[in-house]
Amino acid sequence: EKGGYEHFMQKEIMEQPTALEDAMRGRVLPDDNKIVLGGLHDVMDDLRDADRVIIAACGTSWHSALVGEYLIEHFARTPVEVEYASEFRYRNPILRDGDVVLVISQSGETADTLAAVREAQRQGVMCLGICNVVGSTIARETDAGVYLHAGPEIGVASTKAFTAQVIVLAMIALKMAEDRTLSHAEFADAVHALASIPDKVRTTLEMDGQIEKMANIYRYSSNFLYLGRGFNFPVALEGALKLKEISYIHAEGYPAAEMKHGPIALIDRFMPVVFIALKDSTYDKVVSNIEEVAARDGSVIAITDEGNGELDELCEYVLRIPQTQEFLSPLLAVVPLQLLSYHIAVMRGCDVDQPRNLAKSVTVE
Ligand code: M6R
Repeated sequence: EKGGYEHFMQKEIMEQPTALEDAMRGRVLPDDNKIVLGGLHDVMDDLRDADRVIIAACGTSWHSALVGEYLIEHFARTPVEVEYASEFRYRNPILRDGDVVLVISQSGETADTLAAVREAQRQGVMCLGICNVVGSTIARETDAGVYLHAGPEIGVASTKAFTAQVIVLAMIALKMAEDRTLSHAEFADAVHALASIPDKVRTTLEMDGQIEKMANIYRYSSNFLYLGRGFNFPVALEGALKLKEISYIHAEGYPAAEMKHGPIALIDRFMPVVFIALKDSTYDKVVSNIEEVAARDGSVIAITDEGNGELDELCEYVLRIPQTQEFLSPLLAVVPLQLLSYHIAVMRGCDVDQPRNLAKSVTVE
């Protein structure tokens, strides 16, 4: 059942290329320059006309929601707010005509996220869902939605559901932007970039051996910092969550530039700092942050683009991932972080598929 892998988590990390292909099958059609989302067909006009989209979710799904915020605002120019589902409902949220609530849940059974659905409905606002488990409660109770089709996720640490959520959010953002904020050529470029992602994830997974060696060095650390910006700020949060939940190492994720507002005080030679430093619109600023960490003897692991040698001097380890359009880079950047936490947790003798104190779906509020 684990398909020859030692753990479900490892299997699920490794099957991301096919999970992403499955998530896009029949939906992303590069030959016709089309994106088809059958489940949203009847509500797409309302979604495109929305004044505001509120995305509610928990945990890793909340991280993909943050990527969704960047995606929808970037492409469709619709304002987005991201809420922890657990906070949303208890704040007596102000919803108005023209708002659309979108919830994201792998299991479709998370109690707080379900409560957000019911709150939207109580206030008469349309509620859409992105779920993986077919026929789950959230999938049934939302007005419309999109399934991930990523296949069952058994490991408690969410991996392929995250990348599938991000790719579905990218499809939604592009569909909202089609013939409005995006020209035909820009849309076509984005659709082609989407279609090329599974192979790039395949290439990224080839660094597994390199990461395993690195994990052997870092397995003894007791704290980690993860920093990223823009589309990859949520990836920094996700990298930190993956490490803490399965290896029990304390880790925090921050937007890179926030480092100088506090976390920089933590840095010494015992503090590994993982930077997502891709050659995108935030690169130069992130490199200055790397210099600041290096100057304080922090041990820097950088994730950067294939062919970029500029960080080799400053960093302890540089991991290179294939180039893609900036909006899709979280799908590649998260992969080495998943592998790093997986290997560290295995080396520390942790039960990676069933970490202590955690359940696959949290059905209490
Ligand atoms: O099934 P859901 O997506 O609603 O689950 C949300 C969180 O409980 C979940 O992502 C959790 O944070 C994972 N253990 C993260 O790996």
